[in-house]
Amino acid sequence: MLRRLYADQPDSFAFTPANLAWADAQITKYPEGRQASAIIPLLWRAQEQEGWLTRPAIEYVAEKLGMAYIRALEVATFYFMFQLQPVGSVAHIQVCGTTSCMICGAEDLMSVCKEKIAEKPHQLSADGKFSWEEVECLGACANAPMAQIGKDYYEDLTAKSMAQIIDMLDKGEVPTPGSQNGRYAAEPRKGLTSLTEFDSGKTQYNASVQLAADIGDTVKRIDGTEVPLLTPWQHDGKARTGTAKKAKSKVDATKAEVDAKKIARPKVGTVAPEKKTSAKPKAPVKPVAADGKPELLKKARAGGPDDLKMIKGVGPKLEALLHKMGVYHFDQIAGWRKKEVAWADENLEGFKGRVSRDEWVKQAKVLAKGGTTEFSSRVKKGGVY
Ligand code: FES
Repeated sequence: MLRRLYADQPDSFAFTPANLAWADAQITKYPEGRQASAIIPLLWRAQEQEGWLTRPAIEYVAEKLGMAYIRALEVATFYFMFQLQPVGSVAHIQVCGTTSCMICGAEDLMSVCKEKIAEKPHQLSADGKFSWEEVECLGACANAPMAQIGKDYYEDLTAKSMAQIIDMLDKGEVPTPGSQNGRYAAEPRKGLTSLTEFDSGKTQYNASVQLAADIGDTVKRIDGTEVPLLTPWQHDGKARTGTAKKAKSKVDATKAEVDAKKIARPKVGTVAPEKKTSAKPKAPVKPVAADGKPELLKKARAGGPDDLKMIKGVGPKLEALLHKMGVYHFDQIAGWRKKEVAWADENLEGFKGRVSRDEWVKQAKVLAKGGTTEFSSRVKKGGVY
């Protein structure tokens, strides 16, 4: 297949300040004079920012890395991960069409895409929300047939489950990634035949699906509300080069901006310190408005917000969104009844349906009393973020 630049290109491209700080930090991973090695992460971030990789974005990245445009264009056109034309505003579905998936029904999945999205790959659906393409093996052959949507894999698909997933995304819902036929991971369909002792103590989903469900950003596009990406090697005060120091100050500036907005962000491999809920004054939850809108706060009460990431289904992004909406404490969520749950389910842009799906109220009731849930104890042990 010919991979050419799209005919209709925007005039310009520039990273958002947060992405720029992150990009500068990425460059510091490589020795002086080898900045071009950062080409793939930078092109990828540009694609995540715009949805697809535009010519101005390729040129911008080339310039930033001191490369000839043609070198950056070679990379962008070589790898199929880079989308050289606009993709669906909600999702771009990449159906694996290699041997295992083809034998197990990839053609049926593509028929569904043709029927529900567009006749031809890379064509936008009539409403512009979806697009699809056939890709080479995505490395999940034991769970064939499969497709990648956004950041996640959907496995053991059938025509029916593929259609259901597209319908859910169309309604603004986020389908749970992973196996769609009840398999936990890639074990035999009739269950484990060996290593059965590893069956005990498992999480609701396998590790990658659990993490995807906990973070929950899946098909979400960059819209400026993101917590800046982490560059942990720059947070130990040992920046290696002048570029690194410059990038570090940008990262710190971004961090300060985030702190100012009071977006809580855990360090890599750790969880935010546990808050002593008993020490906080509890304000009574006020009655709900007619439309179901619960009581929302302008800021967290004295003592700071609760760590809402203790609730299964709430990741850093969702926590930041909840803070933005005015939800900071377990007891706020614990007080939600049917109407408030429905309101929150509807108004969590990009995470619709999460409150009821993950039973937040039930979890929040336990956490508000200072108790722990199976999930919160895993978070405390550092097994989630
Ligand atoms: S053949 Fe489809 S994931 Fe490998």
